[in-house]
Amino acid sequence: MSGDRLTIPSPADFHVHLRQGEMSELVTPHVAKGGIDLAYVMPNLVPPLTSSEQTIAYIEQLQKLAPQTKFLGTLYLHPDLTPEEIKRAAKAGVRGVKSYPRGVTTNSDSGIEDYEVYYPVFQAMEEANMVLNLHGEIPSDADKGICVLNAEPQFLSHLEKIHKQFPRLRIVLEHATTRAAVDCVRRLGDTVACTITPHHLELIVDDWAGRPINFCKPVAKLPDDRAALRDVIREGHPRFFLGSDSAPHPLANKYPSAASRGSTEALVHNCGCAAGIYTSPILLPLCATLLESFGALDQLPKFVSENGRKFYQEPASEGRQVVLRRVRNKVPEVYVHDKHTNRSDADGQKLQVVPFYAGKELAWEIEA
Ligand code: DOR
Ligand code: ZN
Repeated sequence: MSGDRLTIPSPADFHVHLRQGEMSELVTPHVAKGGIDLAYVMPNLVPPLTSSEQTIAYIEQLQKLAPQTKFLGTLYLHPDLTPEEIKRAAKAGVRGVKSYPRGVTTNSDSGIEDYEVYYPVFQAMEEANMVLNLHGEIPSDADKGICVLNAEPQFLSHLEKIHKQFPRLRIVLEHATTRAAVDCVRRLGDTVACTITPHHLELIVDDWAGRPINFCKPVAKLPDDRAALRDVIREGHPRFFLGSDSAPHPLANKYPSAASRGSTEALVHNCGCAAGIYTSPILLPLCATLLESFGALDQLPKFVSENGRKFYQEPASEGRQVVLRRVRNKVPEVYVHDKHTNRSDADGQKLQVVPFYAGKELAWEIEA
């Protein structure tokens, strides 16, 4: 693994947002561009994917946009989701169910408020060997002392409770950002795993406050939290692996301008910056660059391929591998949909997405 070349067996991203319409056309082929063979795709579309038919149709669309990539589909945990639907979904090849607490992030308005009502669904998932993917935050509530900085630690009792009730249900705590979350997953049994994003290995609070490009949910936390994420990868813990949470938003939604909002009133009250960081097209070189920066390059194959594939029971196909070579390369400032290249952006209608690390250098690139 040392020197100027790294060979990685069939990299997999176990948490990615590939959207709909023109955004999906732009970003879906970027999964392979970023060195990833297998993508586990999130269901927070508009409307969310709440039936197996919807998920299967969506995966077919993605497969047409990027035939070389393998896509695995998920369902959105929702009152419409019954144990019968879980059985149907499992038979149809849907691999997991994603739970979003209501209102904590992009398209989570249909999210859940209480886990116990879903116990019959979890039971059916356990029987069908499906994975429960948890967005591990509780909604902010100033009266109860809950805010974005403690929303994840406050969620962990829900994870422990669900695991205790369903010890054979495979659960993934998604995009962990805190030492508390890492410690909790370590403590729980072999059926509980955890994804880590590259951006949370790099960012702390100071990096997103006032900088929309680095704003995502859960927000990046304190230096000690980041150290815990780095340590657990450096140690090669088998239940922690890559889920990029690559989440593209049009530039106009990351940086909504006063002009495009019309009135001061609208600007002040509705001008939220969309949560999400876009990493798909640079994912593998970014992971290599970051892991090397904190002395964990030797763990790259485990982090981006072996650990996640083992947990998801998705072995790498024979002979599929990606080679990285040590070449310094600048990350593009922006990705633009082909149909929009010649459009003006005066009205914010040009479909363009700014990636994480825009204009910065990566230390590795994918060998063609
Ligand atoms: O930052 C985020 N963006 N976090 C999520 O949980 C959702 C995602 C999105 O879909 O934009
Ligand atoms: Zn996500």
